Amino acid sequence: MSTHSLDQPVTRATLERMKHDGDKIACLTAYDATYASLVEQAGVEVIIVGDSLGMVIQGKESTLPVTLDEMIYHGACVARGARRALRVVDMPFMTYPNVREAMGNAARLMREGGAQMVKLEGGARIAEIVHDLVAQGIPVCGHLGLLPQSVHQLGGYRVQGRERETAHAMLEDARGLESAGAALLVLECVPTDLARDITRAVSMPVIGIGAGAECDGQVLVLQDMLGITPGKRPKFSRDFMTGQGSIQNAVQAYVRAVKDGSFPAAEHSF
Ligand code: KIV
Repeated sequence: MSTHSLDQPVTRATLERMKHDGDKIACLTAYDATYASLVEQAGVEVIIVGDSLGMVIQGKESTLPVTLDEMIYHGACVARGARRALRVVDMPFMTYPNVREAMGNAARLMREGGAQMVKLEGGARIAEIVHDLVAQGIPVCGHLGLLPQSVHQLGGYRVQGRERETAHAMLEDARGLESAGAALLVLECVPTDLARDITRAVSMPVIGIGAGAECDGQVLVLQDMLGITPGKRPKFSRDFMTGQGSIQNAVQAYVRAVKDGSFPAAEHSF
């Protein structure tokens, strides 16, 4: 298992090389400078400033109320704490309904929010937007499977792609996002076999959350993996804090478990 040099900034090329070499990519969410610095020092290659901050930071019921200005604020905080990890910032709900609005909002996330890549939820319906963002030099991460911004349309937070047709559609969506120029893909709550097939079908690195062990890397919401999220921990997460004694040790244990393939286990997968 070779790991990326801890001095070099992580780029899209680093992640592509890791996929090619079979080196697992460790990714976590962070929303402020202190945690961004901590997770990067533990060896995380990608930090996602997720709109999950609406729930874990703001205590809201979903990600829908999160605004662009809030994402810019948290993205800029993370950028001040992280110097090496690649910073991916979520475009929040309804900030990319068409190419024109997506372009202006993504530009603000990069200029003011320190984003090095922006993440958008959806497949075929956003392919043209992804294409145009990439054409303007804005790197894009796709997000398929459970799309929290569409929770009301999906009828809840549930596993996606269990049926033959929906699985096929997701595979086609992944191919479409890659053709549109996406550099990275997050798969959320997807059956292990489908996530494996998608990971093999595309050359962009695929990061799973509740998508089994055969993705190119893993991501968790920081508060979930520290076991401090109020309420029931999601099935796909693990409490890495237990027995570790410090947050630094817990995050290092997560990075080790992702890299040696021991996380996620079958019990964290669908
Ligand atoms: O908002 C978020 O935290 C996410 C995770 C899946 C990384 O999108």
